[in-house]
Amino acid sequence: MATEPRSTTPAPTLRRTRQLETYRRASRTLPGGTNSNFRAWGEQTIYIDRGQGGTVWDLDGNEYIDLRMGYGPVILGHADARVDDYVNDHMRMGVSFSLTSEDEVRAMELVAELTGWVEMARMTVSGTEATMHAMRVARAYTGRNKIVKFEGQYHGVHDYALISVTPDDMSELGDADNPVRLAWGRGIPEAVADTIIPARYNNIELLRQLFEREGHDIAAVIVEPVLGNAQGIMPQPGFHAAMRALTEEFGILLIFDEVKTGFRFARGGAAEYFGIRPDLATFAKAMGNGYPAAAFGGRREVMSVLPDKVSHGGTYAGNRVAAAAAVKTLSIIRDTNALETIHATGRRVQDGLREVLNPTGLPYVFTGHPSMFGIMFTEQAPTEYRDWAKSDHELYDAVAFGMHARGAMPEPDSREPWFICEAHAQGDTVDRVVSIFEESLNAALEARARGEVAEHAQGAQAHEAAG
Ligand SMILES: Cc1ncc(COP(=O)(O)O)c(C=O)c1O
Repeated sequence: MATEPRSTTPAPTLRRTRQLETYRRASRTLPGGTNSNFRAWGEQTIYIDRGQGGTVWDLDGNEYIDLRMGYGPVILGHADARVDDYVNDHMRMGVSFSLTSEDEVRAMELVAELTGWVEMARMTVSGTEATMHAMRVARAYTGRNKIVKFEGQYHGVHDYALISVTPDDMSELGDADNPVRLAWGRGIPEAVADTIIPARYNNIELLRQLFEREGHDIAAVIVEPVLGNAQGIMPQPGFHAAMRALTEEFGILLIFDEVKTGFRFARGGAAEYFGIRPDLATFAKAMGNGYPAAAFGGRREVMSVLPDKVSHGGTYAGNRVAAAAAVKTLSIIRDTNALETIHATGRRVQDGLREVLNPTGLPYVFTGHPSMFGIMFTEQAPTEYRDWAKSDHELYDAVAFGMHARGAMPEPDSREPWFICEAHAQGDTVDRVVSIFEESLNAALEARARGEVAEHAQGAQAHEAAG
């Protein structure tokens, strides 16, 4: 257990006047007051004014070091002039033609070049569309219906993706040796859900049994190479290689969902980082530094079901803004040491956190990669989504909300990792993050020792209910 926490100064109270007004106003028109369930945090909902580099300001002028970075896309920093100037120049020539610009061609050439294995790719507007189309391509190529996905993995908000994603209560996922299809929310047709088979991450034996039972009907396995929706839980050594071999043995395609890991773990994403060659992959987030750029791509033979045999389109697919953003962002990632800076910065933050955490005696592990990592308060290193429930996520949530009050903003749900951007390397950002974490941890431990609900914990509960 933890040692006595040191005494702390109370967290400053965040100004919330304009945001509360905006919340009440927005709630009349936008369900939950936002455009996504994931940002609907009740009265704690944050309404943003602006961002610059690694910092954001809300409508009341509160300043935070941003550790969410829009759930990952903003890999260089907010309002990065290199990307914004390029996009602005190009968008002044018109943004939407439903005709193909050279930027689109260049962007997909860069995806091919950086990954080294993607031979053909197409742009979409969101990661959701990218995973939806990759699944369809896999079904078309193999002539099989079913897709295997892992519990706790998030592949966007289309019907095929919303199975066994993120329950709080693990019993809803079924027995450990017989996971059930758990639809996230209403409105997902059973016929659609029935084509998705949930599996357990890092459990190759269960996967083999599944393939032996119904491999003839399985088109693909889609996998987030790390469990990005549960703090970036990493694969066990050899898991991806074993899965690659197993999918090949059964003629099943392997789709790497690199929406979070792509162009972040390495220039060639998690496929390069783990030394795996999937058949298909999906990209979004870091490829556009926050602009809505996304893509799916893969082996030429598989992608060649397009354009004649498989439907894919989209008025905004490859729109100028997204394509130009992808060209500039991917060029920066290729030509500069931005990724090396991000990785080094993530390691510096982790080193600082270790110095804070080790003396407390609290059990903890870092999950994920230094560019995208979580802190789990747990004795045992997690290997799959179900393990999240065994961690002390209430303490994490209390720390995260305490950090908001002190000027740094991780996601206040312990499942989402911290995202590091290039701009976090600047000034004293790393030191400030560490000292804000230290104060927030101490305050949370003190509150716990007094038997109190930690500061802002009610906000965390509101968030969990929403998300
Ligand atoms: C791994 C993964 N796949 C797909 C998606 C969906 O992407 P989007 O939100 O752009 O639709 C996300 C979004 O967080 C993601 O993390």
